[in-house]
Amino acid sequence: MYPKAQDAAKGCVLWFTGLSGAGKSTLASRLSEMIEARGRHVEVLDGDLVRQHLSQGLGFTKEDRDMNVRRIGFVANLLARSSCCAIAAAISPYESVRQEIRAMVDNERAEFIEVFVNAPLSVVEERDTKGLYRRARAGELKNFTGVSDPYEEPSNPEVVVHTGEESVEESAAKVLSFLEERGLLAAEAAKG
Ligand code: ADX
Repeated sequence: MYPKAQDAAKGCVLWFTGLSGAGKSTLASRLSEMIEARGRHVEVLDGDLVRQHLSQGLGFTKEDRDMNVRRIGFVANLLARSSCCAIAAAISPYESVRQEIRAMVDNERAEFIEVFVNAPLSVVEERDTKGLYRRARAGELKNFTGVSDPYEEPSNPEVVVHTGEESVEESAAKVLSFLEERGLLAAEAAKG
């Protein structure tokens, strides 16, 4: 007999928001390994990758970003309802759409956890891993988040990580502790 839906482990949507280059993808991929190692299935919905597939053709106007974020939210919710830990890693610069996703997530079967990947513009611009900030400052890229387009900081995120000051391991540990507190991840057995 199949287990009833209500017996299945509660899923979660870990929603990362933050500037380009703040470390959302890096943190998502490290957490994905760590959460999988603790026996939960994880899927990562990364903005850059989603834009090559699910959101191909969308640009960076408010309308297109909102559409992109809604699509990610829709898929993340479906995954989370099926006991998965869905990690969304997109800039998702607008508070109202993030709130919309929060409200959409099926509370019976999943939890929405907003993680603010907070790195100051000065830090991400200095790193400029993809060379995009330089291009945005030069006027070659329009509507670039943080330079010529808004980023609305989350008003009430469940977790804040400061990737300009913390190591990836430190930031990941913060998220893991939160998941443990919420009973979404069993506390790690003591070693030794
Ligand atoms: S979102 O605003 O719709 O959530 P998303 O995370 O999917 O954005 O995509 C952001 C990525 O697209 C950035 O990391 C960067 O590599 C690239 N990008 C290209 N143009 C822009 C732009 N105008 N603003 C922000 N990111 C851009």
